[in-house]
Amino acid sequence: MFEKILFPTDFSDVSKKASAFIMGMREAGAKEVVVLRVIDQKRSELTHGTSWAGKDELKFFDSVNKQLEQEAKEELKPIKSKLRRAGFAVKLRVERGVPKTRILEVEKEEDVSVTVLGSHGRSNIAEMLLGSVSEHVIRHCKKPVIVIKR
Ligand SMILES: Nc1ncnc2c1ncn2[C@@H]1O[C@H](COP(=O)(O)OP(=O)(O)O)[C@@H](O)[C@H]1O
Ligand SMILES: [Mg+2]
Repeated sequence: MFEKILFPTDFSDVSKKASAFIMGMREAGAKEVVVLRVIDQKRSELTHGTSWAGKDELKFFDSVNKQLEQEAKEELKPIKSKLRRAGFAVKLRVERGVPKTRILEVEKEEDVSVTVLGSHGRSNIAEMLLGSVSEHVIRHCKKPVIVIKR
């Protein structure tokens, strides 16, 4: 039923809980996991600004993004090994974009059967029922979403 899983991760504790849950889905017939990390472009715009950016600044932003992509690839490696040891086929994706939007695009591109994500992520604000990314994904995803609570 849930053969192909999309697992968007921000490497937060809640998202680690989600990966533990996915391990258990192997026994229930899940075969493949697409692990996705989105490098947040909105955030880097807010931090560095891009409307005024010239050639040098754009080159700098690109080098920052490349560095973040490299770090994400390193952080994804142990997740991949763990999932492979559990018997899953694993695909890793590091993408640039607005996380909530990019997650929905990848969900369609990969034609997954289910998305598994954390109810919260790195911000993990106590008063929030859901994080902004998870709320948007739950609202707009056409396929089932499994939300792992913090
Ligand atoms: N940049 C990202 N790339 C991939 N997945 C993400 C990203 N940000 C959040 N997620 C996923 O969405 C879940 C909820 O995160 P989020 O809504 O951002 O909560 P918070 O507001 O607490 O940070 C995370 O546990 C993770 O599964
Ligand atoms: Mg977040």
